[in-house]
Amino acid sequence: MEKSFTVTPWKVEGDIDYNRLIKDFGTEPVNDEILQRIKKHAGELHHFLRRKIFFSHRDLNWILDEYEKGNKFYLYTGRGPSGNTHIGHLVPWIFTKWLQDKFDAELWFQMTDDEKYLFNERLELEEVNKLAYENALDVIALGFRQGKTFIFSDIDYAKTLYRQSLRVARKLTVSTAKAVFGFNDSNNVGQLFFTSVQSVPSFLPSVLKGKNVPCLIPHAIDQDAHFRVTRDIAPKLGYYKPASIHCRFLPPLTGPGGKMSASVAETAIYTTDAPEIAERKIRRYAFSGGRDTIDEHRRKGGNPDIDVSYQWLTFFEESDEKLRNIYDDYKTGALLTGELKQILIEKLSAFLKKHQENREKARKVLDKFIIRD
Ligand code: TRP
Repeated sequence: MEKSFTVTPWKVEGDIDYNRLIKDFGTEPVNDEILQRIKKHAGELHHFLRRKIFFSHRDLNWILDEYEKGNKFYLYTGRGPSGNTHIGHLVPWIFTKWLQDKFDAELWFQMTDDEKYLFNERLELEEVNKLAYENALDVIALGFRQGKTFIFSDIDYAKTLYRQSLRVARKLTVSTAKAVFGFNDSNNVGQLFFTSVQSVPSFLPSVLKGKNVPCLIPHAIDQDAHFRVTRDIAPKLGYYKPASIHCRFLPPLTGPGGKMSASVAETAIYTTDAPEIAERKIRRYAFSGGRDTIDEHRRKGGNPDIDVSYQWLTFFEESDEKLRNIYDDYKTGALLTGELKQILIEKLSAFLKKHQENREKARKVLDKFIIRD
């Protein structure tokens, strides 16, 4: 069957078949066996794992083998600061924070302001660099541990990063970059080089500590191409291949499929949206799996599987029991679309309120999390 979707670091579109991605990218499914292994150490399973929102991985068994031998891993993830953070961006970070707590792991967080400059003609250098620090507030607001969390802008940590990117770049041919990323002769040369910079944090702590440390990268599946390259090159430089665990996308408000876009305001809820704005967006735009009339909905029931409010609750409602009741009630028609939206609105408003408070507090401690050179 023809593929009707695209998932690359620069384009996510269509109705994504996540099982197909596991096959195409050659990753492993997150199965019950590995979940039990995680649970053994964490004591519980995050609802993102229970619901397979993190659905795929590379070498997670190896990470756990090493952990069991006393060889602890660090975490690496990142953000391309092209605008305000929306709640879809938070999904991998929320999970990363859980991993930090459960496995007492350091986090290295890369702000690829360089990438956003190279890939977006409309953004100026000063702008992307400034956004890196604005976005860092959203990271800190999630509760990452001071002293164990290192956030850096590529532009402002360039001295350290550049040295290591050179080592990666020398091992990466243009033909590989073209094959992996679909580049052609009209791409600018910075774009071809950039993936070398995104590789570096996969082994940088090993360089700095003078001994190899396993690395686990929690990230949305669209970034996998970068780390396929990294996994090929890291051993050639004497380091471990980074392991990874991949999540699905929070669907855009307006449609059942694809990825929320930071540049289309109505499809996204930003972390800085006032709760009333979030409420209005959900009421107005959230794609509904309900019937045309209340009467028909009561008789035939709705379709939670395509309803965006329900999909969002699978990300934000932690209680499996509550979620199951919502699913059942919507499906039988006992719960109406307006009521389902109301449940989501209350959940998200509470989340946003707390996040926005923490985000303001984060300004005071920003310096304690940032590394630069
Ligand atoms: N390129 C990513 C983006 O555009 C940012 C990023 C850098 C990243 N390093 C990462 C994301 C590691 C996940 C994991 O958002």
